[in-house]
Amino acid sequence: MNRDELLEWLTQTDPQRLESLWTRADSVRRQHVGDEIHLRGLLEISSYCVRSCLYCGLRAPNHDLPRYRMSAEDILACVRQAVRLGYGTVVLQSGEDPGLTRDFITDVIQRIKADTALAVTLSLGERDVTELAAWRAAGADRYLLRFETSNARLYSTIHPSLPGRPSDRIALLGQLRDLGYEIGSGVMIGIPGQTYENLADDLEWFGRLDLDMIGVGPFIPHPATPLGQDADRHPIRNQVARSEEMTCKVMALARLICPDANIPATTALATVNRRHGLQRGLMRGGNVVMPDLTPERYRRRYDIYPEKACIQESGPECVDGLEQGIIRLGRRIGRGRGDSTNYLRRQKAIPQKT
Ligand code: 5AD
Repeated sequence: MNRDELLEWLTQTDPQRLESLWTRADSVRRQHVGDEIHLRGLLEISSYCVRSCLYCGLRAPNHDLPRYRMSAEDILACVRQAVRLGYGTVVLQSGEDPGLTRDFITDVIQRIKADTALAVTLSLGERDVTELAAWRAAGADRYLLRFETSNARLYSTIHPSLPGRPSDRIALLGQLRDLGYEIGSGVMIGIPGQTYENLADDLEWFGRLDLDMIGVGPFIPHPATPLGQDADRHPIRNQVARSEEMTCKVMALARLICPDANIPATTALATVNRRHGLQRGLMRGGNVVMPDLTPERYRRRYDIYPEKACIQESGPECVDGLEQGIIRLGRRIGRGRGDSTNYLRRQKAIPQKT
């Protein structure tokens, strides 16, 4: 899809035209990754963070937030829960926490791999390449690292660097791919100062990086962050809306650009429309859901943004359970690890070094 077409879709407001985008994305999804919806058990293993990202409630300067770090035993208990629920993957996610040491994470990965057949996805921020290599060698399968925006100016505004450590997530994604990880990335939609042109660039980057997983969600202002306090104060002319519809547009276009990628309907999307967000995401390109398996006592403190929807097996927000919802969409729950077909194709094309 060329850039003009991308921009045309991103700025499209005609409901009938948009309906045709949803239909096209849904049919490409069906042809390339089928009707299975893969469930990934999400474990938010630490809320400590050394960074000061302007949008995120976990930022280090937010001293009002009581922090936690799960023990290996706590993590493994949740992993067993994922197995009982029939999931094929656990995702270990955290703030950028040096307290999660290379050896601690290595040990956790090895124990998960020894006890279960689960795929392990890491989402632990920008870590040292030697750590990323050690975790891959210990058996980690996938790494998620959103670049949030490909616009250098906006990126550096919202991601103050640590002293002596320039932040370049796009470069790190290339290194993760070279280490043999399945790589996932994505952006927030509606960051203050983000234009349609920026989003078109982001989508082009998804294709260029040959992403295996693409997660996008609307920016949700958090009052304890700089961007949450003045989100709408100085709107620019081409400001992208932080809406459900914009998020669905980006999901649908991501599906057309990277037809074989795994694309989740994200918690942030479920948060901006609690009744229909997940379902719409799954009908407009999505094929993955990441239910939160973090124990309740910790989950409340993983305060990335306010009023975070909790996607669980059952509960008030999914009245008759996630599974029934999925079946009602005419889809079925994925079996097995749900590896990205994009990754499997790449592995076949590039014989592994032994
Ligand atoms: N609104 C929406 N998404 C957010 N994230 C962080 N803060 C916010 C926010 N205020 C997203 C980022 C990050 C992911 C784990 O959560 O994209 O990569």
